[in-house]
Amino acid sequence: MSGPLKYPPPQTLLDWIRWAERHLKRAKLYYGHGVETALDEAAWLVGHVVGLPPAELEAHLNDAPSPAQLEKIRALVEQRLTTRKPLAYLLKEAWFAGLPFYVDERVLVPRSITGEYILERFQPWIEANKVRTALDLCTGSGCIAIALAHAFPQSRVDATDISDDALAVARINVEQCGLRERVKLVKSDLFERLTGVRYDLIVTNPPYVSRDDMESLPQEYRHEPALALAAGEHGLDIIVKILAQAHDHLNPGGALVAEVGNSHVALAQAFPGVPFLWLTSESGDESVFLLTAAQLEQHRAHFVAAA
Ligand SMILES: C[S@@+](CC[C@H](N)C(=O)[O-])C[C@H]1O[C@@H](n2cnc3c(N)ncnc32)[C@H](O)[C@@H]1O
Repeated sequence: MSGPLKYPPPQTLLDWIRWAERHLKRAKLYYGHGVETALDEAAWLVGHVVGLPPAELEAHLNDAPSPAQLEKIRALVEQRLTTRKPLAYLLKEAWFAGLPFYVDERVLVPRSITGEYILERFQPWIEANKVRTALDLCTGSGCIAIALAHAFPQSRVDATDISDDALAVARINVEQCGLRERVKLVKSDLFERLTGVRYDLIVTNPPYVSRDDMESLPQEYRHEPALALAAGEHGLDIIVKILAQAHDHLNPGGALVAEVGNSHVALAQAFPGVPFLWLTSESGDESVFLLTAAQLEQHRAHFVAAA
């Protein structure tokens, strides 16, 4: 054998996925914005350029991209390496609960583990057929509200955010999904603009990153709005306010489902007497809790005192 082994020149989509994967891996990027590995990100990038959604890519791995598509693949890999922006922002696309969403730097890249539970209609924890009204608090791109509208076709969904920028992106997605009649966007600081309104289900993925974690975030996260991430010293500033007010916005028998990420430890420590039901995902994640309206009422004094 003479000299190092050379890769054959890339030709098929699979070759180009492997090519992109190698470059992404070498650059030691961070993957946490919808995919977990360099290979998955490479497949998403190549699939996007050739117009194939993730679920259809496998059947086309032996196709050859056109010269124009190749240029795009190369350019996107280059941009990803030099800017360290999450791929979703470069593609202006994110997938959540099996649905495509428009995204840009005005919103957090959709990736909440809550999407898994929405697809399962929160079984076995809630009576799905009884959900007629739902609220997505802190909606960002609108991804949770839209996924809820799909999962609970009999429901009407309100989606709130404090950010005009986020609501503008959510509006694009609501229109794109043809859900204008069922998903209402409301600018509101948490429940402020929802006085007297009650829901069967409240779902939220609020900001929950602690001060220390904000300081050590990988570069990719620094392209996301800080308003979507930062939640005070322990990451609990927003969730505690939600816990203090949620009961006033739930119908009897209703429930609050909230994601709190790494802050789940601090939350459980702050309220040791509260029976948070930590939902377990396929990957073993336990950062989403459910509390019923009755439990929120029972422990309301603790939440109000802490808010
Ligand atoms: C973690 S992001 C979640 C976005 C989206 N739900 C998702 O899962 O991708 C949190 C969102 O909360 C919004 N937000 C922050 N503070 C808020 C407040 N006080 N009231 C309402 N929304 C707020 C931010 O603008 C951001 O869009």
